[in-house]
Amino acid sequence: MSLDPRRAALWQAMNLGPEWVRREHGQPARPSPAQDGAAAAALQAPVPAAQRAAAIAAMGWDELQAAVAGCTACGLCQTRTRTVFGVGSRTARWMIVGEAPGAEEDARGEPFVGQAGRLLDNMLAAIGRSRAQDAQAPVFIANVLKCRPPGNRNPQPEEVAACEPFLLRQIELAQPQLLLVMGRFAAQSLLHTDAPISALRGRAHRLPVGGREVPAIVTYHPAYLLRNLADKAKAWADLCLALQLDEGGA
Ligand code: URA
Repeated sequence: MSLDPRRAALWQAMNLGPEWVRREHGQPARPSPAQDGAAAAALQAPVPAAQRAAAIAAMGWDELQAAVAGCTACGLCQTRTRTVFGVGSRTARWMIVGEAPGAEEDARGEPFVGQAGRLLDNMLAAIGRSRAQDAQAPVFIANVLKCRPPGNRNPQPEEVAACEPFLLRQIELAQPQLLLVMGRFAAQSLLHTDAPISALRGRAHRLPVGGREVPAIVTYHPAYLLRNLADKAKAWADLCLALQLDEGGA
């Protein structure tokens, strides 16, 4: 069975790999030699970034999640165990944005499940929020990168560029009232700045996404806070600022 032309075009624009790799009815179709050649050619012909971003910007949640799961747009696809799409309520008022999956997240396919994740959950609980879908005040948690950089090295600019359309589409679909951006890397990537975190904290940023300006608060990454306990007080101040900004919201 083949996809309709619009979806096939999206698939190609996404750099998702050869068409025969798609699972139809749960079964991978086998390639014919001719298809094999066409697929290889498609992989070698890079899709312009703008075209790929436009294809992603037209996706709904399920399509987006499938696209992330099959993404081969950067080298991280060769070393990841699982992609890490995000977790929580897709209609939450708050979206938490971290850097990239670590080893535990890569193994489980869920963001922030290691030690830093436990601290994040505690920080959220302290302000009455939770990643649980059925929580009274749920959040959605996502990362700038959907795949783990090997050895937890810093993400490379080309990896960020390839992954950015996914996060922007998540923000556009979820329409959060507030972004809580965790750590220098996520803040600099999302806000397109090289300002230090000390200059980014303590005020509301406005991130233009899909015709809206989404308020964003920058705070320390939980992994940093595990090593720098004294800065937990500043992180608490950031959470209070986020609450204040989102005043009245659950
Ligand atoms: N650090 C992050 O930034 N994200 C995760 O998902 C885990 C650790």
